[in-house]
Amino acid sequence: MAAGGMSLLSDDPLSYADAFKVYQKQLFYCTENYNEFITPAIGNIRNNQEPLRILSVGAGTGNYDCVIIDSLLETFTEIHETVIEPNDSHTAKFQDRVKSEMKGKPVQFDWRHEKVEEFLENHDLIKERFHYIHCIHSLYYCHDPVDIITKLHELLLEDGVLMIIHQSEKDDVRKIYTEVGKYLKNTENPCGDDMLKYLKSHGYLCTPKYFSYDIDISQCFDKKSKEGNLLLDFFTDVADFRNTAPRDLQESVMNMVKWSKLGDDRCHYFRDVVVRLLVRK
Ligand SMILES: C[S@@+](CC[C@H](N)C(=O)[O-])C[C@H]1O[C@@H](n2cnc3c(N)ncnc32)[C@H](O)[C@@H]1O
Repeated sequence: MAAGGMSLLSDDPLSYADAFKVYQKQLFYCTENYNEFITPAIGNIRNNQEPLRILSVGAGTGNYDCVIIDSLLETFTEIHETVIEPNDSHTAKFQDRVKSEMKGKPVQFDWRHEKVEEFLENHDLIKERFHYIHCIHSLYYCHDPVDIITKLHELLLEDGVLMIIHQSEKDDVRKIYTEVGKYLKNTENPCGDDMLKYLKSHGYLCTPKYFSYDIDISQCFDKKSKEGNLLLDFFTDVADFRNTAPRDLQESVMNMVKWSKLGDDRCHYFRDVVVRLLVRK
């Protein structure tokens, strides 16, 4: 139980997977060009160190992973990817995707059902390092994301790249998350801009790039819409937000929903503003 009768959606893998699916659906409508922000900047990685070793942190259902792998296979002849994903139902979907989309391709997977914190605690640095590590929208759920970034950087081989994609402070969903975080007294979750400041001030070689897109949230107005309610759960990270959140918190979140951008099509949109951080070794 998080606080005030609420429980965290991210503590319930099945409900989280349902809510994430609805969010993903909305995301795909608006990010036809999402390849652009994940297309890896792999310029410095040497070709002669194959197989290329990738570490994917919080891979989810693997939709980004498959795009990244396909793009890397244009340069590298063999890939080995270690997948860290604590949610079994996400991993099952990723494995289905591998069966259909990666069939016959020179890619091997090592599936780890654990959190990145557990992986880092048990990983032998001497035995295995990586050319390319990515954390795409997965560090929100970690207790100390900056500590994780520092440790992941240590896992990079020379010339390796760590890619982090995270909400910036201007992201509308982030604003909701912060509002709910205050309520849950969980205010320590850094945004992508905080991560950038940390990395720069500690001498890391880091290149940021910002991306933004609008996501249709109109369904959130309809109390009877299952998808709308799941979207609200995903935005707030509260399970069954509409029925379990205190009235004042519901009001402030719904005010943010009401004041979202109204499109010419009469749909309401949240502005997602994300930063991609490329950290080089
Ligand atoms: C918002 S989803 C993003 C999934 C995928 N990277 C994408 O962008 O489509 C966040 C993912 O991080 C995973 N996750 C949550 N806590 C984690 C942790 N402590 N370590 C690693 N992954 C975690 C969740 O299970 C979920 O699959």
